Amino acid sequence: MKKNPIILTIAFMIFMAMMIIGGCATPAHISAKSGAQLWGEACGRCHNTASPSTFSDVDWDIAVKHMQFRAQITEDEANKIVEFLKSAN
Ligand code: HEC
Repeated sequence: MKKNPIILTIAFMIFMAMMIIGGCATPAHISAKSGAQLWGEACGRCHNTASPSTFSDVDWDIAVKHMQFRAQITEDEANKIVEFLKSAN
């Protein structure tokens, strides 16, 4: 059976497109995590995580801003963590 070069070319192009799209997408391990998950993982590395009720909303804003640099998390991740802490306190 003779292979159809057009089908092969299209299959190759689809494969390349998937590689490119997949390569540029935000890594799922960052984008898919909830604020609660990020908080547990990013904030528990250095010290025990203070319970959300320990601080007021304003204090959490400030504390997470300070800790964002220590934890090396993105602005988005920090915002998710703050949202979680505010919703849980
Ligand atoms: C790289 C280590 C490290 C990581 C990661 C880290 N912290 Fe801290 N954290 C510290 C150290 C050291 C202190 C005490 C000194 C200070 O306050 O700067 C502290 C103090 C705190 C305090 C006490 C109040 C304050 O503002 O000083 C809070 C609240 C806090 N961290 C919350 C968090 C949260 C929320 C996260 C996650 C976003 C986090 N930490 C991630 C090292 C870390």
